[in-house]
This record gives sequence, C-alpha cells and structure tokens, in this order.
Amino acid sequence: MAPRKIIIDTDPGQDDAVAILLALASPEDIDLLGITAVAGNVPLPLTEKNARIVCELAGRPDVRVFAGCDAPLARKLVTAEHVHGKTGLDGPQLDAPTMPLQDQHAVDFIIETLRSEPAGTVTLVPVGPLTNIATAFQRAPDIIGRVQEIVLMGGAYFEVGNITPTAEFNIYVDPEAAKIVFGAGAPLVVMPLDVTHKALTTKPRIDAFRALGTKVGDMVAAWTDFFERFDMEKYGSEGAPLHDPCTIAYLVRPELFAGRLINVEIETGSDLTLGMTVADWWRITDRPKNALFMKDIDAAGFYALLADRLARL
Ligand code: RIB
Ligand code: CA
Repeated sequence: MAPRKIIIDTDPGQDDAVAILLALASPEDIDLLGITAVAGNVPLPLTEKNARIVCELAGRPDVRVFAGCDAPLARKLVTAEHVHGKTGLDGPQLDAPTMPLQDQHAVDFIIETLRSEPAGTVTLVPVGPLTNIATAFQRAPDIIGRVQEIVLMGGAYFEVGNITPTAEFNIYVDPEAAKIVFGAGAPLVVMPLDVTHKALTTKPRIDAFRALGTKVGDMVAAWTDFFERFDMEKYGSEGAPLHDPCTIAYLVRPELFAGRLINVEIETGSDLTLGMTVADWWRITDRPKNALFMKDIDAAGFYALLADRLARL
C-alpha cells in the first residue's frame, strides 16, 4: 500500500518530537508532506524552531517546516513550560537548527496542499492546539471535504483534565478552534488522555531507547526523563504518557488501538468546564457520531514499535 500522505501540526514539546521522529522513521507507511508549527506548549518562535531541531536530529533537513498561528482564535495563549521546560524541549542540550523555515504561512500551506493533492489523500495529524487547522477550515471551507482523515491528540473523558479539572491542554488552549474542527464533518480519530495515559514511559522502556546507542535514542531517553517528572508528581504514575506519538502509531499500526465511534462536543461557554470534550461514550444522545474516540492501547506493542522504528534513524 502507498505510504499515507500527512501533515503534522505541532507544538513541540518532547512528545511531539517523538511523534515527528516516528513519522520520519516510517517512510514505508508515512509520506510527511510538511510540518506546521502552532503556538501551544511554548510560543510559536520556539515551536517552529523545535520542529526544525527534530528534523535535523532525524537527518532530514529537507523536511518543510512552516510557522502558523501564534495565538488562539479568540483567547490569550496559555503555554505549558511547567511540563516541557522553557525551551519546550528541555532535557538534553540542543544545537540551534540550521535548516530554513519556509516563508509560506502554515495555514496557506495546509490550504494549498489540500487543494492540490487528489481529494481524500491527505491526512491531517494535529498534536497541539487546533488553531492552524481551524483557521484553514474557516478561510477555505472547500478543503474540509478533501481531507482523508484527521488523527489528533487531544481531549479526555474518563481520564478528565490535565490543565484544568475537566480539560486536556490542546483543546483547552483553543476551544473555539476545537469546536470548529470537531464540527467540520471530516473523518476524525481522537487520541485522548484516556488512551495516552495507558502509554506510560517506564524505566525499562526508556532504557530500551538508550540501548539503541544512537543520538536519537539518547535524545528521546533524555526528553522522556525530563518530561515524565510532571505526570509522576501529579498522578503518582510510574512514568509519563507519550501522548502525541499515539497518532502516528495509529497510522502505522491501527490494530494497537481500540475505541468507539461516538459524538464528541467541545465546551466553549462555561468558564468552569471550558475546553472539555463532552464524549457521549454511552451513546445517550442522538447527536452525530463525529469521532472515533480511542480508549485502549497495546502499550507493549506501542513501545516495541517505537524502539524498532527509532532504531532506524
Ligand atoms: O495534553 C497533552 C498534549 O498537550 C500533548 O500534545 C502535549 O504535547 C501538549 O501539547
Ligand atoms: Ca503537542
């Protein structure tokens, strides 16, 4: 089968970095058309720089990286340096990138790509706030019907929130954008905290990255070592959830995941529950089933895939 053409929309973020590496390590499954950076974990100047750092780490300075929106549609930017550190990729010492940032705005790249590629052949993989995607849909509604699938990391239901008691970070940062994307009608696969919190780094799993004996393996181990302290303190878990790589792993090995096609709506009116993904898991309402909402993962298979593919870089 031909590799899947994708655009990764991202706010690196250590876990975003691992998602990008997994995509670049899987050319038989993934044709990465470009990376679009968005403000999220850290401000845009850092997320676009971090995306280029990761491409160079993978030995792929040819990948096109675009800078997108530097603030949510209708709110002040909320960032997550408390999780990812000041640079967004804290942990190891990193050299500044030398590969260029593309001049074109990320939103224009998304629109142009969806209009120029055959309809139904491009998958969008947002792993940060949905500002770029929503802006593209608002500016060019004709592209929505041309999207093959949106496979995003965001939201939570049974796991509840990680940035507020009810909201997951990517959705919370730009709930208006999320409402647009979840209501657009494009086929949608959601990797919420309900599934990513079952994909925890553990010492043996991080040791497996270090045992690769490569710069990529060492970097991923250092990133996860840094990144996991937040979740371990907050949840008392034995490791950190590798959120964003779940999206790429789904594209490579969908059988690692299980979920339900259900209705998911976004709270944008209540300050108390702003950004909550209201998932009708028990199908109580007759609202349209707009999302394949994942709940289970073969975590051992996920980490085996990661170690196996990252060894290639
Ligand atoms: O809530 C987890 C999500 O927020 C991940 O995408 C992480 O990178 C941060 O963006
Ligand atoms: Ca992210």
